[in-house]
This record gives sequence, C-alpha cells and structure tokens, in this order.
Amino acid sequence: MTGPESEGSQVRRAVCPGSFDPIHNGHLDIISRASRLYDEVYVAVMINKSKKSLFEVDERLDLIRQVTAEYGNVRVEAFHGLLVDFCKQRDIPAIVKGLRAVSDFDYELQMAQMNNGLSGVETLFVPTNPTYSFMSSSLVKEVATWGGDVSHLVPPVVLEALNKRLRKD
Ligand code: PNS
Repeated sequence: MTGPESEGSQVRRAVCPGSFDPIHNGHLDIISRASRLYDEVYVAVMINKSKKSLFEVDERLDLIRQVTAEYGNVRVEAFHGLLVDFCKQRDIPAIVKGLRAVSDFDYELQMAQMNNGLSGVETLFVPTNPTYSFMSSSLVKEVATWGGDVSHLVPPVVLEALNKRLRKD
C-alpha cells in the first residue's frame, strides 16, 4: 500500500495547554491560529486541585467548547499530571504557546526544554497579537470583580458567565 495510510499517522496534531480560568480573547487568538496550522488542535485544561479557581474544570471546558465550536478541528479536554503524558497518549508532537512579552520567555523556555527532554515533544511559540499582549485571566478576573468593563477582552458567553459568577459569589 502506498499513500498516507501506509505511513502511519499523517494527522498533524498540536496542543494548546493552560488553566483557562476563564478563556479570554488572547487565548482564543492563539487557538484559532493553531487551528489554521494543524489538522487537529487539542485545548488541554489543566486540573489543579491545589489552586483556587473561579470556574470549575467542567465549566471551563464548557465555555471553551462554546467559543471554539466554529473551528471544526479543535477538541477540548481536561488533564492532570504531566502535559507530555497527555501528548504521548494522543500522539501529539507539538505544544503551541503564545508569548506575550520577554517576561514570559524565561519560564516558557524552561518548560519547553523540560518537556522536550522528558519526551521529545516540541514547543512552538506564537507571538501574541499586540492587541492582547497585556491580558491574562487573572487580570480579567480582577477587573471584572471590581466592576470594570471586560467586554472587549472575553467572548460574550464568558462575559455572561463572569457576571453571573461574580454577582453570585
Ligand atoms: O495557563 P497556565 O496556568 O499558565 O498554564 C500552565 C500549564 C498548564 C501550561 C503548565 O503548568 C503545565 O503544562 N502543567 C502541566 C504539568 C506539567 O507538565 N508540568 C511540567 C512542565 S515542564
């Protein structure tokens, strides 16, 4: 047999990992760009029980699924443990990360080198769109907590969830 079927998996896969508490427009920009570069993109939501979060993992998964639904090749899953194990189990050779500023670089480089040393998985850095370079989920939550307008920073469904959660809690 010749052709793609004979050469094992030809599907180009990548993962965009993170806490996504909650997903914001900066994340979405990286995910959409990754979805144009790869056949399948996994959004991997880290389960970290020791870290207090605003949204439960299932809520985060639900929000991400809603805002990535338009990209036909994006899958959203939770994971705990090592990211490289998530990659190994799904035959994912590449991690795609956004770099907002030089200040991100030191830690991201450490993780990229560690992950590569552990399993050979590569990390590709995408420069964040300058429109989103100041953004983080923590800042979005802080501004929203004190009644600031974050409607230009998150998708409408996330804004609704934020308002609901912050009014309730
Ligand atoms: O959105 P965050 O919190 O900055 O994402 C951090 C994340 C999830 C990408 C990183 O903490 C991670 O990959 N954690 C999984 C555990 C792991 O593999 N640790 C070793 C990294 S070298």
